[in-house]
Amino acid sequence: VSLLLRLRRPGPPPTCAGERAPARAAQRHALYRTEERGWPRSLVYRVFFKNVAGHYISPFHDIPLKVDSKEENGIPTKKARNDEYENLFNMVVEVPRWTNAKMEIATEEPLNPIKQDVKNGKLRYAANIFLHKGYIWNYGALPQTWEDPHQKDKSTNCCGDNDPIDVCEIGSKVLSRGEVIHVKILGILGLIDEGETDWKLIAINVNDPEASKFHDIGDVKKFKPGYLEATLNWFRVYKVPEGKPENQFAFNGEFKNKAFALEVIKSTHECWKALLMKKCNGGAINCTNVQVCDSPFHCTQDEARSLVESVSFSLNKESDEEDAEQAWYFLGK
Ligand SMILES: *[C@@H]1O[C@H](CO)[C@@H](O)[C@H](O)[C@H]1NC(C)=O
Repeated sequence: VSLLLRLRRPGPPPTCAGERAPARAAQRHALYRTEERGWPRSLVYRVFFKNVAGHYISPFHDIPLKVDSKEENGIPTKKARNDEYENLFNMVVEVPRWTNAKMEIATEEPLNPIKQDVKNGKLRYAANIFLHKGYIWNYGALPQTWEDPHQKDKSTNCCGDNDPIDVCEIGSKVLSRGEVIHVKILGILGLIDEGETDWKLIAINVNDPEASKFHDIGDVKKFKPGYLEATLNWFRVYKVPEGKPENQFAFNGEFKNKAFALEVIKSTHECWKALLMKKCNGGAINCTNVQVCDSPFHCTQDEARSLVESVSFSLNKESDEEDAEQAWYFLGK
């Protein structure tokens, strides 16, 4: 039963990966919309993705990593130089800034909707650790990337965390869950989370009013003083309220620059390709997709629709988890 159905922003029709959508003049709308099922703060809540033709897609596999150089947010642009397109990526927003619910792409479910992470039967929330309120950036992932848990990263010497690569979007707007935006990559932090490599990209929404000032990691230090230090501290302590030790970092917690970040994206994209082509062990990851036509996991639009429709949602009352979002932690020195 679809309890909630919210459609967002129509746009131009879909294409298979590889095919190119014709550039549209003055096309004002986003290319993707979301459809919510179940209630937020419940175990059954899911956010499915659709393309503009209204067909279900996977945000993990079917949204291209790179932004088509002919258009920017649907609007053809001449202002960006070609080399700037090398640095434009799609980002799927999972967690809006200053919220707590740990929403993420469900990598093990068909069509990979966004859902709230669950641990020991309970919904997970990021703690408010003085002076932070929830997530301190718009947080999400780059589609078509995967940190392979069977492959040792050459700079961290730890295997991947089995997820698409994470992004901290540092722009001034609070974005919404399920939004697909275009970001410029600025740098990267090598988090070692419980022994797994968990890269955190630092990026900015290209439509941010200040985006043109940001080109590399040094600009974050310059124009948003304290933000990188706060980011490092956030990742260091975020699991401490759950009784876990502080996290470690590659490179002693140094943020690497844009060039380094682009190399990491490239290698995680290669891992994702191997995954979709069934050239490596994907474990429980669900690779069902509708637009990667040469993948053995490719399915038709009709099959995708029946996959979504076969997921049943019990009427599940909103759970009372407000405490988790208001609890405050002071960890001291
Ligand atoms: C993904 O989900 C579909 C539908 O439930 C299933 O048929 C398939 O085996 C799953 N696994 C992979 C690897 O795609």
